[in-house]
Amino acid sequence: MKFSLTSGLLAALAGLSSAASLTQVSNFGSNPSGARMYIYVPDRLASNPAIVTAVHYCTGTANAFYTGTPYARLADQHGFIVIYPESPNSGGCWDVSSQAAYTRNSGSNSHAIATMVNWAISQYGADRDRIFLAGTSSGAMMTNVLAATYPDLFKAASAYAGVPAGCFSTNSVAGWNSTCANGQSITTQEHWAQVAKNMYPGYDGPRPRMMIYHGSADSTIYPRNFNETMKQWAGVFGYTYGSPQQTLNNNPAAPYTKYVYGANLVGVYGTGVTHDIPVNGAHDMEWFGITGQPAASSSPAPVASSTTLATSTRAATSAAVTPTQPSGCTAARWAQCGGQGFSGCTVCASPYKCTFSNNWYSQCL
Ligand SMILES: *[C@@H]1O[C@H](CO)[C@@H](O)[C@H](O)[C@H]1NC(C)=O
Ligand SMILES: *[C@@H]1O[C@H](CO)[C@@H](O)[C@H](O)[C@H]1NC(C)=O
Repeated sequence: MKFSLTSGLLAALAGLSSAASLTQVSNFGSNPSGARMYIYVPDRLASNPAIVTAVHYCTGTANAFYTGTPYARLADQHGFIVIYPESPNSGGCWDVSSQAAYTRNSGSNSHAIATMVNWAISQYGADRDRIFLAGTSSGAMMTNVLAATYPDLFKAASAYAGVPAGCFSTNSVAGWNSTCANGQSITTQEHWAQVAKNMYPGYDGPRPRMMIYHGSADSTIYPRNFNETMKQWAGVFGYTYGSPQQTLNNNPAAPYTKYVYGANLVGVYGTGVTHDIPVNGAHDMEWFGITGQPAASSSPAPVASSTTLATSTRAATSAAVTPTQPSGCTAARWAQCGGQGFSGCTVCASPYKCTFSNNWYSQCL
């Protein structure tokens, strides 16, 4: 009896020590499309924090993406804000198909998300140079649309199982374009680049660095969309789609192959991976420059050694470093404690337990 009371009290105290939770923001500015805004602000918010905008899949919700992806736990660890927009459309897909979606300040969902980000920047004094974007499926399509429509707002993006910006066009709000989904919208890198550039005509400032993830066994958004999306951003950044600078097998871990085009574009293609592609939070953190060295370096070498970047032992620069367990060390609460390619401490400080999140990420919780 005494024992269970004590452990109950400890559990309650542990709960109190992390008061942060997913919170809806109702008045973030003009919002004709009715998209909903949720935000996660960690207890230990960094000053001048970064923002990660995390965009859900069809049928998803802000809460589902909050609980089902690692971004909020990573925010606890690194002190950034996560914005979880929520689709107002029936079916829960984002509008990535109307002409308005591809037009700045049009009142559509893409405009609503940009408004949410601007609200959070001024509300929390966030760092305009560290505004990031990530999304899965419909959220990845929105990631590509936002990168094209608001290239001045975002610095880096990570898109899991999406399509090129403009590919899902139906001239209706939140329509479904089967030609694109089935991988039959095929064109040149020049044409795809023009489609993206037309979403902010005349703009020639900096654009977000793009990381594109896709699985070869995706039967919802066919894998050909990986190739077409790579063409689009290769064209925008002036790379040649057919000639990546580097092809890295088992990177960041099997079954993925990483195609490095340069500082602004990386593709990560998973053999046998379906539409249910896992978010690799640690890899996104590296790409955004929240951990390790930002991938946007003039040399491609840092990208090549992503497994070593996840740790502080950056002296080891070979991509083929064998992970070694530092002896006798413990990982703090919220810290990473496991995952393929991870070479840090795998024992958590008491009373936290190393908890499996996905093949690339376990965390002390
Ligand atoms: C689907 O998108 C493609 C471009 O990806 C476009 O050519 C086609 O007209 C669209 N289909 C519909 C039904 O709008
Ligand atoms: C698309 O890219 C993947 C990864 O590079 C490659 O394996 C596949 O052959 C490409 N598909 C086409 C049709 O080019």
